Amino acid sequence: MRNATDIFNEWALSGKDKGMEKNHEAAVKEMLSYLIRGQEDPFSFIDAGCGNGWVVRKMKDHPLCEKAIGVDGAEDMIRKANANDAVGNYFYSDLLEWAPEEKVDFIHSMEVLYYFKNPSELINHMKLNWLKPGGKMIMGVDFYQEHERSHTWPTDLGTHMTLLSEKNWVSLFNDHGFSHIENFRANVQNDFPGTLVISGVLDSI
Ligand SMILES: C[S@@+](CC[C@H](N)C(=O)[O-])C[C@H]1O[C@@H](n2cnc3c(N)ncnc32)[C@H](O)[C@@H]1O
Repeated sequence: MRNATDIFNEWALSGKDKGMEKNHEAAVKEMLSYLIRGQEDPFSFIDAGCGNGWVVRKMKDHPLCEKAIGVDGAEDMIRKANANDAVGNYFYSDLLEWAPEEKVDFIHSMEVLYYFKNPSELINHMKLNWLKPGGKMIMGVDFYQEHERSHTWPTDLGTHMTLLSEKNWVSLFNDHGFSHIENFRANVQNDFPGTLVISGVLDSI
């Protein structure tokens, strides 16, 4: 089993990041519009596991977005992000070892959390060190228990993936004290049960 970040580094070098962007685009569009619905004040945003930075660049175009940051543990993904957006905020780091200088209003993450052996630890780290009180976090995964065809992916790709059910993912958000937890499927198609999306709000103290 290899590190996921080594695999995605190769994807960046071979140009496969563009295909991934295309594959994720429809679900991410739904996630982002859900994340910022009703938003009237300026906001800050982090994409956790940003790949080549395409979601950060998309968010930066939003008139209320004051700051958008991307973090990824594949160096060549971050190199690409910087090449595409020289004035952007992109950080090369393992997500568990990084924190922003200032906490943000929104965290988004697409197809990243299951690469961690303990996703609960990452959710806790982001809750404690990344998110403002009152902030909202949204995550999407295509690898989950109810998506049976995804179960071969760890073998196919040769890396660790943590397989959880929809109920398990919701419980993680509950365990860490998020409120207004909602779960839905984005980009559902005939042969695809959709991206499993979970969102929650960190209550102000
Ligand atoms: C399937 S890709 C998704 C990329 C991006 N979210 C997108 O939708 O295009 C997963 C990303 O998570 C990153 N990643 C995986 N494990 C990581 C870790 N421990 N720390 C930081 N990034 C990680 C990989 O480098 C890769 O870019």
